Amino acid sequence: MNKNLINDAKIVLNNNFQDKGYSIPCKGLYPFQWKWDSGFIAIGFAHYDMDKAKKEIETLLDAQWENGFIPHIVFHVESDTYFPGPDYHQSELHPLSNKKHPSTGMTQPPVTGFTIEKIYEIAKDKTDGLEFVKRNIDKVFENHRYFYENRDPQNEGLVYIYHNWESGTDNSPIWDDIWKTMNPPTYNIKRKDTQLVDPSQRPSNREYDHYLHIIEIAKKHNYSDEKIAELSPFLVQDPLFNAMLIKSNNALINLYKLIGNNEAKIKQLEKWQEKSIKSFNDKLYDEELGAYIHYDLRNEKPLRFVSSSSFSPLFAGIPSKERAKRLVTTMMDKFGGEDLYLCASFDPESERFNPKKYWRGPVWINLNWILYYGLKDYGYNEIAERVKSDSIELIEKSGFYEYFDARKSIYKTDKGGYGGGNFSWSAALLIDLINN
Ligand code: DGY
Repeated sequence: MNKNLINDAKIVLNNNFQDKGYSIPCKGLYPFQWKWDSGFIAIGFAHYDMDKAKKEIETLLDAQWENGFIPHIVFHVESDTYFPGPDYHQSELHPLSNKKHPSTGMTQPPVTGFTIEKIYEIAKDKTDGLEFVKRNIDKVFENHRYFYENRDPQNEGLVYIYHNWESGTDNSPIWDDIWKTMNPPTYNIKRKDTQLVDPSQRPSNREYDHYLHIIEIAKKHNYSDEKIAELSPFLVQDPLFNAMLIKSNNALINLYKLIGNNEAKIKQLEKWQEKSIKSFNDKLYDEELGAYIHYDLRNEKPLRFVSSSSFSPLFAGIPSKERAKRLVTTMMDKFGGEDLYLCASFDPESERFNPKKYWRGPVWINLNWILYYGLKDYGYNEIAERVKSDSIELIEKSGFYEYFDARKSIYKTDKGGYGGGNFSWSAALLIDLINN
């Protein structure tokens, strides 16, 4: 069974790999290279086509800006199936943007560091694997420097995101409170996504007004980080984003040690790391909820909701053993009912939970993958195995969808897979999970 599934996953990945050396997340809906998708996709390729894995990352890094920034979408080609495209984002407004590749002016969770470590770990030819790491590691280091120097105005070791698309969890109910603080104009735009996917599975038009309005403000100031920190109505310290950065810091430390002769960079990374982990535990943990939460830096208030992002710090070794225990209890109490697949993206007990709508409830394979490894690291093997087998079962039942209904009962009558089909990271991470 697993063998067929792996073959099907390879077909999805091979079909989504483009001549220019990168993968699209899926046809039509997402026709370019996305930053965090690229990392997960490369991990899948590493198991059977190392050249494509390395190429995926090197193509992404070729689009890095002169200030170390790595954009969330790289527009390698033109496409009429996606909005907003390069003409809307206008990355060229930023003086240090990449001169070869048009992109967005926002980023996505920093997964590239732990991706290159994973690729090295999976590589059978360690000499070649290390050469790949040596060619690319300084670029990732510069990306982390960009974050710490430009995205941490209060010098806390916690970096902010200025747009919901930077979180990766695009339309999470967590942002609803922020939308209430804004009143953007109505933009008369032609949505493309809702022509390709049932609109009930996608963000609303009003939500898109908010998304575009934040970009309008950033563009007005040529994507200046300083101005964005001062003016963006959305400024959030996100536990998922910061956990990915911390995990990637760790990966860079390990890899620099392996390479040798990089004491200064290791020291710098350790300094960032210590501060980040401390602030993360001090500021982003909610004792009463027993979970990590988001912090709204613009309005100076915690956003007290539990989502799958709340548990991602396990993956980066952030909580103490004791706190991890509490975290896992919260996870199982809220998300682990017998009638639910692990792990819904948003608190199933909340009235804001929507089992079909993108990041407002469905299960996502990349978050499950993060949780699987995190749970294993802390010794929660049984729950980790459930996350893994749930992920495999969902894909077996529905196919390589972008996201999945967490309610088990629905699969008796319904497909349960939503959003884009033949979705790259669902295929890539299934390969990694099965191989683990
Ligand atoms: C979209 O268009 O929904 C993308 O996920 C943004 O990154």
